[in-house]
Amino acid sequence: MAKYLVEKSNPLRGEIAASGSKNAVLPIMAASILATDVCKIMDIPKLRDVEVMCQLLESIGSKVTIEAEKEMISVLTEEIKEEEAPYELVKQMRASILIMGPLLARKKKAKIALPGGCAIGARPIDLHLKGFHALGAEIELGHGYVEATADKLVGANIYLDFPSVGATENIMMAAVLAEGTTVLENVAEEPEIVDLANFLNGMGAKIKGAGTDTIKIEGVSELHGVTHAVIPDRIETGTYMVAAAMTRGDVLIKNAIADHVKPVIAKLRECGVEISEEEGNIRVKADQNPIIATDIKTLPYPGFPTDMQSQFMTLLTSVEGTSIIIETVFENRYMHIGELNRMGADIKIEGRSAVVVGEKLLEGAQVTATDLRAGAALVLAGLVADGVTEISEIYHIERGYSDFIAKLTKLGAKIKRVEE
Ligand code: EPU
Repeated sequence: MAKYLVEKSNPLRGEIAASGSKNAVLPIMAASILATDVCKIMDIPKLRDVEVMCQLLESIGSKVTIEAEKEMISVLTEEIKEEEAPYELVKQMRASILIMGPLLARKKKAKIALPGGCAIGARPIDLHLKGFHALGAEIELGHGYVEATADKLVGANIYLDFPSVGATENIMMAAVLAEGTTVLENVAEEPEIVDLANFLNGMGAKIKGAGTDTIKIEGVSELHGVTHAVIPDRIETGTYMVAAAMTRGDVLIKNAIADHVKPVIAKLRECGVEISEEEGNIRVKADQNPIIATDIKTLPYPGFPTDMQSQFMTLLTSVEGTSIIIETVFENRYMHIGELNRMGADIKIEGRSAVVVGEKLLEGAQVTATDLRAGAALVLAGLVADGVTEISEIYHIERGYSDFIAKLTKLGAKIKRVEE
């Protein structure tokens, strides 16, 4: 098993560029099967999750061509041979469920192994299924799988009880080929939803309102291939912003959309970090002012992203004062706290809140990445901890950060990947 060895590092300095967004590229790849001709997707990040999505597309009959040096993937799905997402792939990547909406739209049938629980909470898919049912699908829940079938899909008015990102995407992908109009209310407003809607509209879909809480979709009879460049990864951008603050460094992040990381910028500024937004770039300077505590509540976009909670919490262990974090999106996303406390942090959990006492000097230890963002948080902790931090189960981190070691090393971090 591979591990990361992270040594206490100097303040990070220099520039790096954000890669294409993981959470945008995965639904876009799934949506590409809605066309019978080629879709070309550009600015693809180098991630394990993208590889798993390629395998999933191939398993249902798509021809996938990867041109790594051009960061491009072509997907050609002349025929769908299999309407089922197998367990081996779903268990590796929960986002496999995003194939369900496109399969249902194109083949009127979709079967998927149930993803089950995961490290960051129960993560049910009831809202996805509620949407498919409203569009006319019969839903059958079997042992370890769920199947949706329909004679035809017909537009409907659908209200989501919670603005779930995945449910919004899956229902949108099913509704684009439905007869008539679908109105989705209380939907997710994340930039990844907008990117997916732009991709689908490029294929000939008629979607309006993506990025607001109501999306209107006029069904069309067919979609065609398109070439589309994926938006930059806002969580990757945010992670490097916090890494710069954590080490009291000075980092320029290129290919970054400041609008997409507004809450992270606002919170870092509250802490005393200087941020300047230049066209397409964000500069984070934390080597001048003292860095102080702040409180955070995670919320659906445009609120503070749950995917930045663990990294920000790590920063708050080092600042002046005590901070309170409230996680409202996932019920169990505090797995990193035990590991941070083992490194010398003082964080207490009170229900959905975490109380973080600042100015703690962390010490290197053997720790485990329990999920992608928890793993990133431990890397950040390792950059300021005395001695060496040994992080295991790093496959979680490599699911979601493109060229992580190379980018951090370029900024002066002392981090190595070792095979045991
Ligand atoms: N939920 C339900 N029922 C549903 C769907 C969701 O109760 O049918 C609940 C979940 O249990 C959770 C909350 O709603 O408590 C939010 O879940 P959501 O569906 O919005 O999340 P997701 O689509 O499963 C995506 C990202 C996550 C990110 C969340 C929230 C992808 C592939 N994943 O997950 O990204 O945390 O939105 O922003 O887009 C990550 O990148 O590390 C990551 C976990």
